[in-house]
Amino acid sequence: MLLEVENVTAGYGAGPNILDGVSLRIEQGKSYCIIGPNGAGKSTLLRTICGLLRPRSGRIIFKGEVLNNLRPDQILRKGICFVPQDRSLFPEMSVKENLLMAGYTLTNKQDLEQRIQTVFEIFPVLKERQSQLAQTLSGGEQQMLAMARALILKPDVIMLDEPSLGLAPLVAIQVFESIKKLKELGMTILLVEQNARKGLECADWGYVLDLGKNRFEGPAHSLLHDPQIEELYLGKRRGTRPQGKTRTLEQGVDGS
Ligand SMILES: Nc1ncnc2c1ncn2[C@@H]1O[C@H](COP(=O)(O)OP(=O)(O)OP(=O)(O)O)[C@@H](O)[C@H]1O
Ligand SMILES: [Mg+2]
Repeated sequence: MLLEVENVTAGYGAGPNILDGVSLRIEQGKSYCIIGPNGAGKSTLLRTICGLLRPRSGRIIFKGEVLNNLRPDQILRKGICFVPQDRSLFPEMSVKENLLMAGYTLTNKQDLEQRIQTVFEIFPVLKERQSQLAQTLSGGEQQMLAMARALILKPDVIMLDEPSLGLAPLVAIQVFESIKKLKELGMTILLVEQNARKGLECADWGYVLDLGKNRFEGPAHSLLHDPQIEELYLGKRRGTRPQGKTRTLEQGVDGS
């Protein structure tokens, strides 16, 4: 097991537990998608793994080492890279400069240049646009740049929080294609997605988180075809919480 989250509780400040005993088991080279309603604690879970939030109890174990009390920069250096929802680019720097900044801790600049060329092979559009300011990229390209920045550090695990957020459907599809490419390259991916179907399609294994607890888990393709998961968590508009029975089209507009 590469990364294990064992029965972790966490919350903000003196507030209540947002994560209420969450567990994950992440194997090397596999991809995972965490789905669940708004406010379930998905982003909080990723923030806790990367050290932005300390677990109140439970353990986070990476390559056999407990990460609980490490700072975010230490966890990053261990090999866990987090691409947050807001993408954290330097908007007034070029694509190339954003990539150079991502690797500023690397002392071997030749190696850094080589790594940049490698991410350009994965995301050819970024090579074309390397001199363009990040803020002038399309939403999809910005997301690709955010992923590319993470890859510069050759992380063991890349965690992506809602990479398709705010993107037009066709652009979102490009981003999902990029994630599949990373998967094919053997990356270990931990993805949180509001677009649960598309997210699960990129994953080997799915976790459903609800109210800060593990609710279901299983092979991603099984979750995609599980009637209960479908009814509760798939194919509903963002922002709706599961509320028991869903009305079907067959019931007709007049409810008959
Ligand atoms: N910085 C914060 N301070 C206090 N409470 C927070 C903070 N960030 C999130 N929360 C609370 O934690 C709970 C879980 O939020 P979180 O962002 O982890 O959910 P999520 O599953 O990622 O939801 P979404 O699908 O909307 O992104 C929410 O009730 C939220 O209000
Ligand atoms: Mg979130």
